[in-house]
Amino acid sequence: MAIAGAQTGSDSSSTAKPLWSSKFAFIMAAVGSAVGLGNLWRFPAEAGANGGGAFVLFYAICVALIGLPLLISEILIGRHGQSSAVESTIQTARDSNASPKWAVLAGIGVVAAFMILSFYSVVAGWVLYYIGVFVGDVGSAIAGGTIAGGAFAGQPEGAVEALLPRLFDDPALLIVLHGAFMAVTAFFIARGVSKGIEFVAIWLMPAFFVIFLMITLYGAFTGAFSEAVAFLFAFEPDRLFHGPVMLSALGQAFFSLSLGSAMMITYGAYAGRGTNIGQSSAIISVADTGVAVIAGLAIFPIVFAAGLDIAAGPTLMFQTLPVAFQSMPFGSVIGLFFFVMVGFAALTSSIALLEAPVSWAIKRFGIARPTVAIALALLAFTIGVMSALSFNTLAAFRPLGFWPLFAEANFFDAVDGVTSKILLPLSGLLTAIFVGWIADRRLTDSENGLSGPLQPLWRFLVAWLCPIALTVILIAGIFPGIAD
Ligand code: TRP
Repeated sequence: MAIAGAQTGSDSSSTAKPLWSSKFAFIMAAVGSAVGLGNLWRFPAEAGANGGGAFVLFYAICVALIGLPLLISEILIGRHGQSSAVESTIQTARDSNASPKWAVLAGIGVVAAFMILSFYSVVAGWVLYYIGVFVGDVGSAIAGGTIAGGAFAGQPEGAVEALLPRLFDDPALLIVLHGAFMAVTAFFIARGVSKGIEFVAIWLMPAFFVIFLMITLYGAFTGAFSEAVAFLFAFEPDRLFHGPVMLSALGQAFFSLSLGSAMMITYGAYAGRGTNIGQSSAIISVADTGVAVIAGLAIFPIVFAAGLDIAAGPTLMFQTLPVAFQSMPFGSVIGLFFFVMVGFAALTSSIALLEAPVSWAIKRFGIARPTVAIALALLAFTIGVMSALSFNTLAAFRPLGFWPLFAEANFFDAVDGVTSKILLPLSGLLTAIFVGWIADRRLTDSENGLSGPLQPLWRFLVAWLCPIALTVILIAGIFPGIAD
């Protein structure tokens, strides 16, 4: 067994085994992977599209009862195996006298992470565009002496909402922004775990939380919360057991916690023995859920106040918030800070998304890290171009039109839907069965850092609740006819 801090790297690559330099670095990297566009952009969009209250309640249940136990399970596999997600799972299986074929749970995750990256970087490209827009606006506000006023002085509301459609009408710009973000991601992955991933996480995540806190406090004094609270936290028992809503909430929980995407196994492998996995997992889930709920509370008051489309989906955050910044004191500056903050969160997540497949390919093919990083980023970029064009040139393209669940989905929605609603929960289901039933119990129980009643509780959730609930929700969501 690897000993914490020991340089056990023995393979052909010249680099010694990378390890986080501290527990803080591990937490920042893992929180950085979890907190991202999923919280700020996808959570409000999904809550809006699925009617609010029932979705949010079910999401919270999924995070607590399925997400947290699986988070512990994934980190545990990685920390035990000390290698790429696939290799770590093989190692854990071998040490439990089980078939190495269980590595398929990580294989599905690697594919899912790669597919998510392809469209994630597209949305991050939109964020870059808004950073540019607000830089320009801060400039003209300073020049015009209107810096204390709202953003986009003199522009009608509709003009601000039209920013996004205007971007969507410019395919070349969309592709350039998508490529630029992917290039930055690849740059940091090529630099490696400590100089790249850790460096970005320990600087950008604290900066993210400072800006997030400032904007939230600012919003708390200016926003009208009550309608948003009613929408997000309404208890609607009759809507609760609707298959597609349950599957959307489950998918969002997986997406937001970066579960089922080989990712937490990958980062767990860089953690030393001193890391308490149970405690770290609790911190990661609380931080992730907190950011999502606060982002919802910030975005929905604006949606209601401005009478915007709640079910707007992917465009919600990008059209509601600029309108709000327009009427806020110092709106240009706040808007700029906001989108820079979103960019930080997106970068720490996209880095994690690329690292999962990259660490796998380094092990699998023995190729140097920078080469793998560039090759996989290029491939993800190329696939992502189809997502970038999904709101314009390819708007009518329905790649999965034959499948009722995705009948209305364009390429972007189809990749998003197949990953979050199928691949992530499927990988999670296999992980629950593997850790709950197949892996050596002494191994899992000594790795997870849980004590007292938490140990049997965790085992019950992983071995019984997760497999049953995941199977039921997958079936009810994929075949809605059965549940309704
Ligand atoms: N959790 C990320 C977010 O909320 C998105 C994501 C899903 C992810 N799976 C991942 C990030 C795997 C990194 C690795 O934005």
